[in-house]
Parts: sequence; C-alpha cells; structure tokens
Amino acid sequence: MSVGGVALSTIWTQFSSPKNSASITEHNIAPQAGKVFIVTGGSSGIGFELSRVLYTAGAKVYILSRTKANVETAIRKIEGQHATVPRDNLGSLHFIHLDLEDLESVQKAAASFEATEKRLDVLYCNAGLAAVPDGPKTKQGLELHLGVNCVAHVLLEKLLLPVLTATAKITPFDSVRVVWASSVLVELASPKGGINIPELNKPSNNTNSNYSISKTAVWFAAAELSKRYGKETGVVSIAGNPGTYVTNAWRIAPAYIYYPFRAFMRHPKFGTYTYLWMGLSGEVTMEDAIQGR
Ligand SMILES: NC(=O)c1ccc[n+]([C@@H]2O[C@H](COP(=O)([O-])OP(=O)(O)OC[C@H]3O[C@@H](n4cnc5c(N)ncnc54)[C@H](OP(=O)(O)O)[C@@H]3O)[C@@H](O)[C@H]2O)c1
Repeated sequence: MSVGGVALSTIWTQFSSPKNSASITEHNIAPQAGKVFIVTGGSSGIGFELSRVLYTAGAKVYILSRTKANVETAIRKIEGQHATVPRDNLGSLHFIHLDLEDLESVQKAAASFEATEKRLDVLYCNAGLAAVPDGPKTKQGLELHLGVNCVAHVLLEKLLLPVLTATAKITPFDSVRVVWASSVLVELASPKGGINIPELNKPSNNTNSNYSISKTAVWFAAAELSKRYGKETGVVSIAGNPGTYVTNAWRIAPAYIYYPFRAFMRHPKFGTYTYLWMGLSGEVTMEDAIQGR
C-alpha cells in the first residue's frame, strides 16, 4: 500500500518514535547541569515535553516563543509538577520573546540571549506551524510556513553561531548541535519532482504543499548549515521528524481527522525522545549531518 507514491511500510515507523526502545528518555537521560539549551516554541506540544525533561535533568532551558503568557503558564506547570524534587537536582526555565513571523524579532531574541549567556549546547528549532489557510505572509513577505518553520530559524542559527562555536571549543566533539523539526509530510506530500521553485515567490493555496515545502527546506537548511560551517565551527546541525502526536498543531484539523487520529496517536513526550536522541546521542555525528542523514 502506498500514500503519495511512498510505500506505507517505509514511513509507518516515522509516525511515532519507538515506545519501548528509545535510547534516551526522561528515565535515563544523563545529568545536564551546567549545560544551556534553547527550545523554540517550548510552551506546548513536543517542545513543552522536551523543556520539561531537560529541566528535570538539571539543564538551563531558554524557551523562545511568541506568546509570553503561554510560556509563563508552561513554566509554572513544569515547576509545579516537580515542586517536591530537591531544588539542586533541577535546572531552570527562562523566557525570551521570539516571533518567527518577523526577522527583526529573531535578531532581538538572539541579542537578548547573547546578552545573558556565553554558552549554548543545543538549539532546538522546534517551533512551527502547519496548515494555515489563505496564504498569509511573514512581516518580511515570505510564505508563512516557509518563513516561520525554516527561514527565521536559519537566521536564528546564524546569529547564534558565535555562541555555539564558543561552546563547541570547550565541550566534547560533536556535542554542540542545532536540531531541526522536519515532518513525515516531506515524504507524504512533497511535490513530484521536488520543490516547485516558482511557488517560493507565488505560494500555492495548498496548505499541505506549503507545509511540506517548508519542512523539506528545513532538511536542506540543516544539512547546508553543517556543510558550510560544521567543520569550521564544530556545530552539528541536523534535521529529523519527531513523529506525529496530538498537539495544539492538530486542533485546526477538521473533527473527522482530529478525533480518529487522536484515538491512535501517542503522547508528544515520545517526540521528545526523538529530539533527545538528535540532541544528545553519541550516535549522531558531523558526517551524518553534512550528508543530510
Ligand atoms: N505534532 C505533530 O504531529 C508533528 C509532526 C511532525 C512534525 N512536527 C513539528 O514539530 C514541531 C512541534 O510541533 P507541535 O505539534 O509540538 O507544535 P505545537 O503544539 O503547535 O506548538 C508550537 C509552538 O510553536 C510556537 N510558535 C508558533 N508560531 C510561532 C511563531 N511565529 N514564533 C514563535 N513561536 C511560534 C507556539 O507558540 P504559541 O504558544 O504562541 O502558540 C508553540 O509554542 C513543529 O515544528 C512541527 O511542525 C509536529
């Protein structure tokens, strides 16, 4: 059986990360005290779960996101869930405003991070949007999915490259990373023959196509950033599909899609397991990143 020309058997495992065989989970993650992480869009979904696990492992976690109230609620919730854990075992959670629809906001967010931190171990480019209809644009006039999911994160990575590079000099080889969130829609809904270049300037009305273009671009961007800067900076930039989980992103789906999916999809924490592997596992190498694996 195939979907969009792709055999279902080859993509099936991408829908959810391994339930019982994930190599790094909240139960065995190594202590992360002293390390600094950024999670864009950490106020909900997979990014929220990731922020929670990193915090419980002792990391300093900066949530860069657009809605301050949502991040504050998320931080209160995580801290509340661990109120009985000895303070020394926990890390800390911080908010920096970032609106990926506006490249000026990206510049301000990077500047405000660099004004307070001299270290950044892993940048998780997690924030994203999907299936936004009616072709709205970013402040700089880019198609929304491409602008938010990909271009703004490229700028964020480039602006943070100095602090990532400085961190790579004092940490183990290949451990400083930029982790990008792609999607199974790269396989399922990519246009035949690859990205239709004219659509970059004149986006289609097909939101799936716009989303899949943005997530294909994410994959190219991660590999290209590794190719261009990886060996010189020591910063490993990789993309992967966190899997498919019921999160806020799905609330915009029609009920006949949302409810059946809800019934069989796993908790977003399993997407976090994929992120943890991408950000922390010794199995991930610069060579993989450069090859776009
Ligand atoms: N869930 C899935 O099934 C699935 C599958 C494959 C890939 N992914 C990818 O995984 C990532 C996380 O997905 P999710 O489902 O966990 O997402 P989610 O629950 O919808 O959360 C998205 C986060 O991104 C933030 N955000 C959205 N637009 C932003 C902007 N313009 N500037 C800054 N922050 C913004 C949101 O902030 P607010 O609080 O303001 O809303 C929220 O914190 C996304 O890149 C998504 O494409 C998800």
